Amino acid sequence: MSLALAKNTEKDLWTILEQMSLRDKIGQLRQVDGSGGRSDSSLLEAIREGRVGSIINVVDPVVVNELQQIALEESPCGIPLVFARDVIHGFKTIFPIPLGQAATWNTNLAKEAARLAASEAYAAGIRWTFAPMIDVSRDPRWGRIAESFGEDPFLNAVFGRALIEGFQGEDLAALGSIAACAKHFVGYGDSEAGIDYSSTNVSEFELRNVHLEPFREAVMAGVASVMSSLSDVDGIPATAHKELIRGVLRDEWGFAGLVVSDWDSIKQLSVHGITSDDKEAAYQAAEARIDIEMTSDMYEKHLEDLVCAGEISGDAVDAMVMSVLTLKQNLGLFNAPYTPRDYKLGASKAEINDCAHHQASESFVLLKNRDAVLPLDQKSIDSVCLVGPMADQPQEQLGTWVFDGDSGLSVTPLKAFQNSLHGDCEVVFEKGLETTRSSCGELAEVAVEKASRSDVVVAIIGEEAILSGEAHCRANINLPGDQVELVRRLKATGKTVIVVILSGRPLTIGNLLPHADAVLFALHPGTMTGPAISDLIFGKAAPSGKLPFTLPKSVGQIPIYYSKKNGGRPATHDSIMSIDDIPAGAEQTSFGMTAFHLDDGFEPLFPFGFGLSYTNFEYSDLTILSNELTQGGELEVSVRVGNVGLKDAYEVVQLYVRDRVGSITRPVRELKAFEKILIPAGQDRDVRFSLSRADVSFYRRCREYGVEPGAFDLWVGGSSLADLHVAFEIDA
Ligand code: NOJ
Repeated sequence: MSLALAKNTEKDLWTILEQMSLRDKIGQLRQVDGSGGRSDSSLLEAIREGRVGSIINVVDPVVVNELQQIALEESPCGIPLVFARDVIHGFKTIFPIPLGQAATWNTNLAKEAARLAASEAYAAGIRWTFAPMIDVSRDPRWGRIAESFGEDPFLNAVFGRALIEGFQGEDLAALGSIAACAKHFVGYGDSEAGIDYSSTNVSEFELRNVHLEPFREAVMAGVASVMSSLSDVDGIPATAHKELIRGVLRDEWGFAGLVVSDWDSIKQLSVHGITSDDKEAAYQAAEARIDIEMTSDMYEKHLEDLVCAGEISGDAVDAMVMSVLTLKQNLGLFNAPYTPRDYKLGASKAEINDCAHHQASESFVLLKNRDAVLPLDQKSIDSVCLVGPMADQPQEQLGTWVFDGDSGLSVTPLKAFQNSLHGDCEVVFEKGLETTRSSCGELAEVAVEKASRSDVVVAIIGEEAILSGEAHCRANINLPGDQVELVRRLKATGKTVIVVILSGRPLTIGNLLPHADAVLFALHPGTMTGPAISDLIFGKAAPSGKLPFTLPKSVGQIPIYYSKKNGGRPATHDSIMSIDDIPAGAEQTSFGMTAFHLDDGFEPLFPFGFGLSYTNFEYSDLTILSNELTQGGELEVSVRVGNVGLKDAYEVVQLYVRDRVGSITRPVRELKAFEKILIPAGQDRDVRFSLSRADVSFYRRCREYGVEPGAFDLWVGGSSLADLHVAFEIDA
């Protein structure tokens, strides 16, 4: 009997539901790992018996269609399966890791990249991705910072929205569209000590005003699904967090989509120690309204008993199943369950590569450029010595979480230099170190020797892909191995040394800076890393990336982020002392002291939003054009940005606000808007921003969102240190 085919109205979904047995319903709530494919007989049997609603990790469209056929033709209800996969920053063609996408500050490009990734994944039979990850991440030790859009709630919110719109398109049922999933709900980015899967202890106000904000935006953007986090939030594992999932996400925000657990996270409720056995774990997850259980089988084993015992109501199960059926309906699976064999990608290979190239190039942040050594003038150089363990690594440049990424498509820096410099200039390559974690030895000696005979040295160093991502956290976030020593030796040759860092996280690079004439920092930029580097180094493009995180001087400064609270004794340059200035035998004192470390002060190595260009920008004429916030209208501001250098370049114009007095303490600055614009050399542009009351609202001491009247500061500039300032008021 097939109940499901060709049913596609909401009424029909209820008709389907009415005809399903409790076992059939529970089957829809189960997602299984299908990586065993058609040779996994227990998988085939489970599909046949209607005990599976969704499958993760099958990426062969032929197998997808075969399994789909079994579900449609042999299972009791004939309901189509939905196939899921992590499509995090590309599928075959790999775009920069999400942290690198955030460094572009270009949400249009991120949306386009997501659309193209969706198209490649769709061709493999995938209709549901577990992205974007919008966990606000303020600890670079945490490997998953790679998958986030950095430390700022606003940046996570706007990039999250861009990816959701890219993946889902205008119509989820259209060819090439896949359902997105906002993850991990919520607070996961605050894992203690930057260790994956450890606890998160976030206060109610911090949860609301920081961690929940990107999810609120995702819901407004129409995200199809949300994933619960593996971690606990203030003592309650997210997967059992009824107050957050039912209370905030569904009841308060009106989220009508599907909530999926993370991998085995229902079973792990007992490991957390919040439940004493599997049955109670199933109970708590169902009570919280987790609709689909990813990979573990607590629902399959215990939900029927829980319903029969009256502990979970039949209506609750129906609501969970309706979420699943609705997703399938929205994806058009009831009408078109199979992946079309003749599906053509939504863009040509060249267009996909262009987007990957463009995004990679915009993701590089120029941190140092002594005496404008960059860009190099190709014509005045006879030889370049390319050195480094990341210079010719097709896989490593792709970054973390690229199970389907095709490293055969990668263009490495070495390849790109050879392609672009052919004939004009000799390219000499020496690895210098076997991997990023190696010590200096013979390879380093050869590299230094060759460097000494070249005109200029380009060192491509960083972290291998496997050093970041899920479960790959680091207690020390320095450049691993002897990479700094290698660069020191290269510089000791007296040559110009350009350093390019390809990493999965912010790194403490203070010890590298003195040895490099220029530093370009990028977060694993993907397939087109090589051409992006070559364009930037030889001036075909100007760097336009800005840090989506605060770059610390040391691990001890973590967490360090720009939107901190002022505290009662904020540090200033005049109020701090250095550990070296304390006389021996000094007496205890705290008088006049402020918030800083004796050994690292209070400032980071580089601030959030920072990034140099091959030109300079000047900001002026910051003007409030109108302020109707009191009346419920908008605040309009305008600023003039001039390109006072000799190169056309993009600038990321950033607007920050401070609410001077609040019922809870407010951040010293919050990013509220930005715009990336191209300004030709010698010209200027007026940029306008408007803010609404929602932009200055927050979750207040009275436990409600809203604006608190009073005085506000507003700055516009090229980083979070922007000093062009105006003040404005909102009256009661
Ligand atoms: C566990 C990860 O936490 C999650 O982000 C991912 O989507 C699932 N595994 C599926 O691979």
